[in-house]
Amino acid sequence: MGNKHMSDKTSTAQYSQAETSMSKVADDQQGTGWIAGDAHNELTGHEYDGIQEYDNPLPGWWKWLFIVSIIFFFPYFAYYHFGGSGRSVSDGYQVAEAVNARKQLAGLGEIKPDRQTLVRFASTGGGGLAVGRGVYLANCVACHGTSGGGLIGPNLTDNHYKNVREIEDILNIVNRGAAAGAMPAWINRLDEAECVLVSAYVASMRGTDPGPGAKAAEGSEIAPWPTPDELAAQEAAKAAEEEAQGEGEAEGEGPEAAAAEPVTAESPVMEGD
Ligand code: HEC
Repeated sequence: MGNKHMSDKTSTAQYSQAETSMSKVADDQQGTGWIAGDAHNELTGHEYDGIQEYDNPLPGWWKWLFIVSIIFFFPYFAYYHFGGSGRSVSDGYQVAEAVNARKQLAGLGEIKPDRQTLVRFASTGGGGLAVGRGVYLANCVACHGTSGGGLIGPNLTDNHYKNVREIEDILNIVNRGAAAGAMPAWINRLDEAECVLVSAYVASMRGTDPGPGAKAAEGSEIAPWPTPDELAAQEAAKAAEEEAQGEGEAEGEGPEAAAAEPVTAESPVMEGD
């Protein structure tokens, strides 16, 4: 006990030098201890295992920070949790995402559910494929794998397809589904433009490396997708054929008339592309 008393004394003596400057600050604040705390250099009453404690409270700025943050909590909590929708960070994020998606689609030109559009996006890529990839990652990976190697659904990277002969068949399958819903229909869950872009993305996966663990090819091998140039040439040939057919019909003859495709309800409408 005598020893401890001595050490108390020594430390008090050492402390008192520092205290002179500190207590000035404390005095300025009339004992509130705003900056350095209100050092009394008095021992608290308790002692544990021979360890005693000075009764020096936390500085005022710290205590006030604590109190102010508790007060701040009430209006903050009320504002964000009961103050109507659209105020949370997650709501803000969703709004920003929707705006961003609209911007991305706006820069892509017309997105029609047809062969030309699919070929254009699948071969020239750009922002359209990025949107398509986003749609794919959000909706299709569970069954077709992140890189299209196939899981429940078939491998989408090889040259073999079960339900697809032409590039536009991809869009038909995506819209309407296949195998009695094993492949779901997406037209009611996604925008039409999203269906087109994800189909273009699927078309662009053909010939890519899905990495290890990919499913074996299913279905039959089909011809490569047309390139935009081939498609343009095909379109031009078709237009010329139809024109010739029209003339042939008028004259009631012509070898082209026999070779021409049957005229469907859609084909006479030539939309200028
Ligand atoms: C619930 C699982 C599942 C999900 C999710 C799914 N698919 Fe499928 N998909 C399948 C199955 C199963 C088949 C094979 C259908 C069959 O056997 O005819 C298939 C077939 C396809 C085919 C035709 C492949 C072929 O060889 O004919 C395409 C294209 C396709 N899916 C694209 C997509 C896209 C794009 C998405 C996301 C928007 C998607 N799928 C989401 C299960 C799924």
